[in-house]
Amino acid sequence: MAGLVRAEIVSNTPVREGIFKLTLSGVERSAPGQFLMVHLPDSGHILPRPISVYDYCEDCGETSLVYSVVGRGTKLLSRLEGGPLSVTGPLGNGFPIEGGDVAVIGGGLGIAPLNYLTRALKGRSSGRVDAFLGYSQEVFIKEGFEIADSLTVDVGGYITDYADFSKYAAVYACGPIPMLRAAAKKAAYAGTKLYISLERRMGCGVGACFACSVETACGNRRVCKDGPVFLSAEVKNL
Ligand code: FES
Repeated sequence: MAGLVRAEIVSNTPVREGIFKLTLSGVERSAPGQFLMVHLPDSGHILPRPISVYDYCEDCGETSLVYSVVGRGTKLLSRLEGGPLSVTGPLGNGFPIEGGDVAVIGGGLGIAPLNYLTRALKGRSSGRVDAFLGYSQEVFIKEGFEIADSLTVDVGGYITDYADFSKYAAVYACGPIPMLRAAAKKAAYAGTKLYISLERRMGCGVGACFACSVETACGNRRVCKDGPVFLSAEVKNL
């Protein structure tokens, strides 16, 4: 299991108001869909924050994360311009790489982990990759998705409406729960395998505290350790 790592901040810059891209060196290679527990500096009792991997650069060994500033801890994080940062990870199971034609569907900050996934899927020998990106107000972190065979972008609407699930061997989705619910419905109707990446409040991030439990067909599972990626058909009360 990946342990605590003292990473170095390479850059930490805003990609739009309240959303930052943090690039770190010194973190082990991750798989698409994995996350890091970021130990926020000088944050007293604030728990480490799970942040999904936006990208991993094989050439330079750097890991990028995209996070939103939502409280004191992430505000402190957004002020850092360099220096060391403690993280645990990479953690979690990540997205399985399926064969055939596939789609990635992201909503809001949930688009972030699909960037690395899209690159991994494009690295397969065959099969198209269609990307669907939905934003509530304005477009951000769209760069990187140009490599998809098609790219559909929507602002203010329902991005799942644009995808014909019956065309795909598998669909990958990450975003707000209403978007995941809509995707799960469409996947069930089309008989298409849907992988969803779930977000939960986390304590330990490594499977020890059960703070992140989710009810599934196989009993309660931990989002941090058994997920964050699950088949939508297995998750109860989505
Ligand atoms: Fe502790 Fe998942 S956060 S078990």
